[in-house]
Amino acid sequence: MDKLLVEGGNVLNGTIPISGAKNASLPILAATILTDEECRIKNVPDLKDVSTMIKILNALGRDARREGDTIIVSAGQIKNHIAPYELVSTMRASIVVLGPLLGRFGEAEVSFPGGCVIGPRPIDLHLKGLRALGVEIEVKSGYILANGKNLKGRKIYLGGHFGSSVLATDNVLMAAVFAEGETIIENSASEPEVEDLARFLIAMGADIKGAGTSTLKVRGVKSLRGTEYSVIPDRIEAGTYMIGALITNGRLYLEHARAEHNLALIDKLREAGGVIDEVDGGLEVYRAGDVINPIDITTLTYPGFPTDLQAQMMSLAAISNGISVITEKIYPDRFIHISELNRMGADIVIEGATAIVKGTNKLSGAPVMASDLRASAALVLAGLVASGQTEIARVYHLDRGYEKLEEKLSAVGAKIWRMKEIK
Ligand code: EPU
Repeated sequence: MDKLLVEGGNVLNGTIPISGAKNASLPILAATILTDEECRIKNVPDLKDVSTMIKILNALGRDARREGDTIIVSAGQIKNHIAPYELVSTMRASIVVLGPLLGRFGEAEVSFPGGCVIGPRPIDLHLKGLRALGVEIEVKSGYILANGKNLKGRKIYLGGHFGSSVLATDNVLMAAVFAEGETIIENSASEPEVEDLARFLIAMGADIKGAGTSTLKVRGVKSLRGTEYSVIPDRIEAGTYMIGALITNGRLYLEHARAEHNLALIDKLREAGGVIDEVDGGLEVYRAGDVINPIDITTLTYPGFPTDLQAQMMSLAAISNGISVITEKIYPDRFIHISELNRMGADIVIEGATAIVKGTNKLSGAPVMASDLRASAALVLAGLVASGQTEIARVYHLDRGYEKLEEKLSAVGAKIWRMKEIK
């Protein structure tokens, strides 16, 4: 397995182009199942998870290929309705083909996704929403077997213990586009990636009102057409590099980054002592003074503070000049990075779903293990500011979600390189 080496103590200065959003690209690619016509999806990052989604489309019988940053899903028919375990087990987000398969064909077999290192990750809301539309679902031999011809629009409340769900909203929305009458999804997720999917579906001819809000209204249509669409910039990638500018006391211009998608982060970074300015369709980020102030954050569904930036924010808190309190309300177990950050000299203790972080100026490089995508990014950020060298094992997690990470960071002054495993 490849490793990343980061030599700490180098300041990040310059421009980083922000790629298209992984978590918008995946459902939008799945949505191409809803038409037989060609779709051209632009600004799609070249990532492991995107390749997995393309493999799933291929397994279903559709031809999809990359040309630069565009994925072209050729005109053609879906030949089977099975998303197999071999693919779903490598990417939980594969579950998002369930809704479009049902919407289009009235049947789907999708491997039941397991939990993962960030927590149990149930799918009860996906199933509740689909059942409300009239789908019959049984779980057999590790597969979700779903049947539902002639889906009927209904009013559905899609809330659970932790609030709304991004992929459950995506699934129900895509199943509903052809359902007879009107479907109203109350407490739908309002994340920018869900809004982007809704906008893509509208571009295909779907009748959807309320994109980007917590109530989606869908009127069933007879068919959808192929279209060309450009995916929004990745707010989590942008947020990670914003934290990178502040943690290294540098100055970064993040091309294409949108302030309106990261308001909760920007608010907290300003409290921490950051300056964030909107300049020419991007964001410029640097410190106002010398120190980072402690931060209190609680992760919430959008527009609250995103769980996908919690780990990276913890690295910033680890070098602040006080005590920060970070509470995780979406995935209460998403704290595996803490033991690795502590190996680098951070002082973090866990109390239930809350981490208490005592800032230090003495982070030092160490061999550490990446446990999930965002935790890996947190370790890279800590490595950038630690003294000496940090060696991050299991980099494949990063490859799932950060396009050209080493290239982008090296271009703005980081010393970071990959040690390829010799097979
Ligand atoms: N939940 C349920 N039941 C469900 C579905 C979710 O209880 O049926 C709970 C979850 O356990 C969690 C909360 O609801 O506590 C929110 O989970 P959600 O369903 O919104 O997560 P997701 O849709 O599976 C997406 C992103 C994740 C991101 C979360 C939260 C994609 C492909 N994945 O997952 O991204 O953390 O929303 O914002 O969009 C990542 O990119 O690293 C990543 C993990």
